[in-house]
Formats: sequence, structure tokens, C-alpha cells
Amino acid sequence: MSFELSPIEKAKFVAAKQATQYVKDGMKVGLGTGSTAAWLVKCLGELVEKEGLKIKGIPTSTRTAELARNVGIEVISLDEAKWLDLTIDGTDEYDDNFNLIKGGGGALLQEKIVATASDQMIVIADASKHVKTLGQFPLPIEVIPFGWQTTKSLVEESLIGMDLLGRQVALRMKGEVPFYTDEGNHILDLHLKRIGNVRNFSIIINQIPGIVENGLFIDVCDKVIIGYGDGNVEVLDINEGLIEKNRIDFVETTNLFADLND
Ligand code: 5RP
Repeated sequence: MSFELSPIEKAKFVAAKQATQYVKDGMKVGLGTGSTAAWLVKCLGELVEKEGLKIKGIPTSTRTAELARNVGIEVISLDEAKWLDLTIDGTDEYDDNFNLIKGGGGALLQEKIVATASDQMIVIADASKHVKTLGQFPLPIEVIPFGWQTTKSLVEESLIGMDLLGRQVALRMKGEVPFYTDEGNHILDLHLKRIGNVRNFSIIINQIPGIVENGLFIDVCDKVIIGYGDGNVEVLDINEGLIEKNRIDFVETTNLFADLND
């Protein structure tokens, strides 16, 4: 059976494949959530199966946990792991300082807790995720369901006077009903267009009662691996800049791509 991936999926795949070189035997590895992170989990599963890689995976969502188990990765909880060697995750945006907006897939809370509990965080992305200033992607914030409309009003009020280009706040829906996170919370998507000062923003927004966490990851990411549709990858390090360029042969094995026709 032959599969044709779009350039964007190839870009995600090669970024994920490149990231596996940082995963070594015995590591406790945080497994991100989303379509790029799913490639990583599949690539790691292949290494576990074919090369006997021995890792423990700490998933950041029930979706990722299920996928990891399906591909043969041993899954443990964060409480069992306590501290991780490495977390690899996708992103919705990253800037030149490797600050991120995450949570497009609704898993920002577990993702942030797991990444923060790791010696190192590597982001895997296609080049479209790079921005000069964060905020073009709507910033997700996780709110508890109790009084969420009041929380939303408080958020809207707090946006007035902040250095932003947009101020629209929307409850994330799943079809006709509000979206629920793995923690049983809702997500508010903040259409800010441009966040002038991400540090201030994060501090101020997290002070509002009812807000559990926001999707800004500041000073968390150490490396960004950018994949391109032609198989090229670049590894950027927060301290050293561009540290590696590589080209990954795109071999379509039925093992990795088997579920694409589902
Ligand atoms: C999930 C996330 C994802 O990492 C982010 O949404 C990127 O997803 P994708 O790799 O599918 O573009 O933060 O909460």
C-alpha cells in the first residue's frame, strides 16, 4: 500500500524523527500532544519495537497515552516519574526567544506541568509555526467550569489597557457543546493578534480566580527542531543558535503510516 503525505505532514514527520536522536536508553520522556507529537510517539514506538529502545513515556493527554501504549511505549504517570530527562512536544507558535503558545489541542495544562518538570524541552514544528511576536494564534487559557462566564468577563476586563492588538474571547466548543479538557475544565481562546509583553500578560492573566493556566510557555523550551516538506531539518538551540542541519530520507513504511487511510 502506498501513502502520499502532504508537505506539511512530511515536515512534521522529519522534525519528529530528528528529535528521536535526543532520546536515549533509560530516559523518562514527556510525550506531547497534537499531530506533530503524534509522529514523535510513532517514531519512538518504532525504535522501541525494532531497536529495543528502553524508555518510559509520560504522556500529556489521554490521546497521547493511548497512542503511546498502542505503539509499545511503556507509559508511567508524572507522579511515578517525578522528574523527566526530556519532553518533546509540538507548538502552535514559537518566537525568536523560544517562547511558545500552546494548547491548540486543549492539552496545555498537562503539557506545561510535564515540560516544566523536565531537564530539557524540545519543540518540534514545521516552519509555519515561527512568528516574530506571539499572538496571531488564539491564546488558550484553561478555566474551571464553575462560574466560567464570570471568569470570561474578568478576562475581558483585564485585557483593556494591555499591549494587545485584539481582545476577543471565545469559549472553545466541541460541536454544539463546550469543550472539556482532560482535567474537566473549559478553554477560553483569546484572539489577541499580538501580545506586546508575554511575561506581564502571563502573570496578570493567571491572577484571575477561575483560571487554571494559560498557554504561554515562557523560558521553558531549550531547542526547536524545524522540519521542512522536502526532508530538511534544522535544530536550533536557545543558547547556541543553529546547531545542526540534516536531511531525513522519507521512507514510507506501512508500519508508521498504516493509520493514515482511517
Ligand atoms: C496541544 C498543543 C499542540 O502541541 C499544538 O496545538 C500543536 O499541534 P499540532 O502539532 O497538531 O500542530 O499544544 O495542546
